[in-house]
Amino acid sequence: MRAHYLLVLGIVTGLVAGCGKSDAPTTPPVTTPAPSVAALPPSAAVPVSSSTALPPPSRESIAARKLDPEKIRNGAAIYSKNCASCHGPNGEAISNWRERGADGRYPPPPLDGSAHAWHHSTATLERMIREGSPGVGGMPAWSGKLSDQEIGDVIVWIKTLWPDEIYDIWHKEIEGNQK
Ligand code: HEC
Repeated sequence: MRAHYLLVLGIVTGLVAGCGKSDAPTTPPVTTPAPSVAALPPSAAVPVSSSTALPPPSRESIAARKLDPEKIRNGAAIYSKNCASCHGPNGEAISNWRERGADGRYPPPPLDGSAHAWHHSTATLERMIREGSPGVGGMPAWSGKLSDQEIGDVIVWIKTLWPDEIYDIWHKEIEGNQK
């Protein structure tokens, strides 16, 4: 359990270090050092994808998050219609999302807890989806195409993809620290 926790901390530290986005939290969400992982070269602390490191959540653990089932269903449908073509049917995107394409842009990142999406509070995610990064990053702006409620529902669904460890840290350190 302890070793597992350190592994998770290592992943978190590695991901935060690798998060160059301006709206990443200014302080890393987890400050406890993870000596066993910190001793490894930086690349060793960053898994290729969560599926190799952390198991996806079970039905029971998703239920324990107390997310509204109606919103989950609605969000899943909105996601598969509007987002899956770029971010993958289950938010897995592509494994080399850290590499720029020929056009100099980064590909759509995973949303399943293996990239940066979970570094953001619900409010920040809402804004990112509403505004996108058209022209710069290639994420379309959804404002005017999806209602605030639809954007809210899709975020609820995205949260069902995150492994338990990621969800717990997000809940405590990111969402919980919202002023
Ligand atoms: C045309 C492809 C495309 C579609 C469709 C798309 N996205 Fe994106 N998305 C991107 C790209 C590219 C980025 C990275 C943007 C950047 O680096 O500025 C991104 C970034 C994001 C992020 C920020 C992730 C992070 O790690 O911080 C979120 C959240 C997100 N998208 C959600 C969605 C949702 C929800 C939908 C559907 C409503 C959607 N996207 C549809 C291409 C797309």
